Amino acid sequence: MVTMEKIVSLAKRRGFIYPSSDIYGGFAAIYDYGPYGVELENNIKHVWWRKVVLQREDIVGLDSAIFMHPKIWEASGHVAGFSDPLVECKDCHTRSRVDHLLTEIKIEADEKMSEEEINKIFSENKEKIKCPNCGKKNFTDAKKFNLLVKSNLGNFTGNWDKEPAYLRGETCQGIYVNYKNVLDSTRVKIPFGIAQIGKAFRNEITARQFLFRTREFEQMEMQYFVHPDKEMEEYEKLRKARWQYYLDLGLKKEHLKWNKHKNLVFYAKAAYDINYKFPFGFDELEGVHARGNYDLSQHAKFSGKDLSYLDSKTGEKYIPHVIESSVGVGRTVFAVLTEAYTEEKVDKETRVVMKFPKRLAPIQVAVFPLLRNKPKLVKKAKEIFDELKTGYTCEFDDNGNIGKRYRRQDEIGTFYCITVDFDSLDNNDVTVRDRDTMKQERIKIKELDSYLKEQYGK
Ligand code: GAP
Repeated sequence: MVTMEKIVSLAKRRGFIYPSSDIYGGFAAIYDYGPYGVELENNIKHVWWRKVVLQREDIVGLDSAIFMHPKIWEASGHVAGFSDPLVECKDCHTRSRVDHLLTEIKIEADEKMSEEEINKIFSENKEKIKCPNCGKKNFTDAKKFNLLVKSNLGNFTGNWDKEPAYLRGETCQGIYVNYKNVLDSTRVKIPFGIAQIGKAFRNEITARQFLFRTREFEQMEMQYFVHPDKEMEEYEKLRKARWQYYLDLGLKKEHLKWNKHKNLVFYAKAAYDINYKFPFGFDELEGVHARGNYDLSQHAKFSGKDLSYLDSKTGEKYIPHVIESSVGVGRTVFAVLTEAYTEEKVDKETRVVMKFPKRLAPIQVAVFPLLRNKPKLVKKAKEIFDELKTGYTCEFDDNGNIGKRYRRQDEIGTFYCITVDFDSLDNNDVTVRDRDTMKQERIKIKELDSYLKEQYGK
């Protein structure tokens, strides 16, 4: 069975994900991507970009800066309202999110509730709620804690608490404030979308869920600008497309679930999450929201700029409504690692194999000389590696016995392992081993490229 411990341990052991600042004892809720993690993450971003931007006529890309005018975060409501309710255990000083503690005892709480509302529910259930760290029931009152991360960028007066430049809390604000630029400088017309992938930062209170909730993370967001009358129709289309995207990504249908938000913010028309079955249970992977015209109206109000759209055919002028899809790269990596993790019994031993789909596997082909101290084998294997590396993500591996190398490549999720042995020198062929079936085939070296092309559908 896949557990959090197994995923975290394999991710570190096999070079996918390391705790940040590891040699200094780590840095809470921040992670680094190792050599295979970065390949996996890049493949995921590539698939998303192709599907969301390149395969659509009506969606364009953007890469806006992390730092933005501080007024943007006032306009968006983040300065006043982007906060989570927090309590501290008076015994061990662990800080916890109140809505998470209440969920543990099956009480629905909403992070948007006021401090008073939260404290009331919390005190009514005090006897049932335990500190997740020490198990005691001795908490401070709940306080709202703002999640925006402040910086002292460009502030030379030392007055940075009063005039902070924030590290962006979500990438979509960069999209809203560039909506007019894109409209004025490109061919797009309503309905159209702007998508981007980029870093976001949040002062998350809880830091115990691996890649699920981190303080620095990347988002893949798409904001679609529509006529107000078309908002719900386009929203349903987007929901369908996003569900299909995850099936195409290789996540099983039974591991996905829609979660309808019960408490909508006042401007929202609808909000659903796509939840994935992570090792700790179903939780949000992506949000799909119908946001009305709140975002553009707020930025029009705070910037003093007219952000309305003039339909050149009908002459109608209106503020477009926005529907969005938003997902974290890290959460997707976590879901893909969870989905791929497989244990199989082989000759009374347990084989751990990461069954990534072909287009996500960090390494597509590994090339081995059977023995590292036989120059002729090494030379031939290097020639094959040099030939294949231009078309495939390849790895040359001559470390340890062949069984160990297969085990390592299985845990990385490499699809094909090519071994050059003594017969290869005479017959100009190699053994190709399939990751999932473990079957081995002899393939002529000159046919390797076409064999792999067929396997990869290139
Ligand atoms: N623009 C909308 C927005 O940011 P959100 O529900 O706060 O909405 C969207 O975040 C997605 O971003 C989530 O579904 C999740 O995949 C990812 N995400 C949010 N906070 C995260 C965190 N602290 N660590 C990792 N991923 C996070």
